[in-house]
Amino acid sequence: MDRIVVRGNGPLNGQIPIAGAKNACLTLMPATLLSEEPLTLTNAPRLSDIATMTQLLQSLGAEVTSMQRGKVLAMSSHSVSNLTADYDIVRKMRASILVLGPMLAREGHAVVSLPGGCAIGARPVDLHLRAMEALGAEMDLRDGYVHAKAPGGLKGGVVEFPLVSVGATENALMAATLAKGTTVIKNAAREPEIVDLAICLRRMGAQIEGEGTSTITVQGVDRLGGATHPVVVDRIELGTYMLAPAICGGEVELLGGRMDLVGAFCEKLDAAAISVSETDSGLKVARKNGRVHAVDVTTEPFPGFPTDLQAQMMALLCTAEGTSVLEEKIFENRFMHAPELQRMGARIEVHGGTAKVTGVERLRGAPVMATDLRASVSLILAGLAAEGETVVNRVYHLDRGYEKVEQKLSAVGAHIERVSD
Ligand code: UD1
Repeated sequence: MDRIVVRGNGPLNGQIPIAGAKNACLTLMPATLLSEEPLTLTNAPRLSDIATMTQLLQSLGAEVTSMQRGKVLAMSSHSVSNLTADYDIVRKMRASILVLGPMLAREGHAVVSLPGGCAIGARPVDLHLRAMEALGAEMDLRDGYVHAKAPGGLKGGVVEFPLVSVGATENALMAATLAKGTTVIKNAAREPEIVDLAICLRRMGAQIEGEGTSTITVQGVDRLGGATHPVVVDRIELGTYMLAPAICGGEVELLGGRMDLVGAFCEKLDAAAISVSETDSGLKVARKNGRVHAVDVTTEPFPGFPTDLQAQMMALLCTAEGTSVLEEKIFENRFMHAPELQRMGARIEVHGGTAKVTGVERLRGAPVMATDLRASVSLILAGLAAEGETVVNRVYHLDRGYEKVEQKLSAVGAHIERVSD
């Protein structure tokens, strides 16, 4: 199993290109099931989660061809020949539930394995199921599978979410494009990945208004066509690499970075005394002399501070001057990186969904264990700020969401390498 070895670093300088968004690509790919005509995604990231979604779509009868070394995904679903999303694939990746809406909308029938728990919390799918019911589907849970049917096709309706869910909004949006009549999605998630999905669906012929706000209105159409769509830039990868110069000092330009994707995050960087500016090609992050300042952070749905950057932000705050309070409001068990950071000398107290981080002058390298995707990259960032060597084990989590992390960080001067047994 691979490990990543990081040695404490001086300033980082140079440029890091930001890939297309994993989370956007994972919802754009199932959209191919909505149409007989080809859907081509450009700017796709090259990640193991994308390979898992490819495998799932192929198992359902879609053709998925990866071109230009994975940057372009050419997909088509002349028919959906298998209507069961099998446990063996779904258990690997929760985003597999995103095939439910498209299959149901196109075929009036879908069987999808329940994804089960995951490291960062229970993560139920009840809101996905309620959304399908609001569109007229009958749902039955049997043998660990969701059996969904809508014999006469889905019908437009009001989908009102009691809490904001990115995935459930995406499933509802895709399903509504082919439902008869008008669908109104209330308390919809406003994440940029949803805006990207709506843009792509519109290119395929869908009638959608209001994406990026909490009310999305969809006028169902009889059929969708083909499209070519570039995947939006990955705001989580962007935020993660913005933290590298913030932690080590120096000046790094994030190519393709957009301020509108990371507004709340940039406000916190500013409060921590990290400078962020826009350039012609992206965003530039610089840290001058002195320690960063402590800041309090609460995770929220977009446009708030993203939960997917909480672990990485904690790595930064471990060496800040003063005490920071991080509140995790999206997932109940998302501080598993804290004990690993403590192994590196961080002072962190966790009480339920709150972590109090008192900055230390310097972290010390240690062998640590990656527990989930964002936790693993937070340990790499912490390693860059530590004295000595940090070995991050279980990096398969990292490969789910970060393309070429060692190359991207080495290119700006980081001491990082992957070691295979
Ligand atoms: C997506 C992202 C993930 C990110 C998360 C929150 C993808 C592939 N993943 O996950 O990286 O961390 O948004 O920004 O895009 N919930 C329910 N019932 C449901 C669905 C969700 O109770 O049916 C709860 C969840 O447990 C969680 C909250 O709602 O507490 C938000 O989850 P959600 O927005 O659905 O996250 P995902 O779409 O799974």
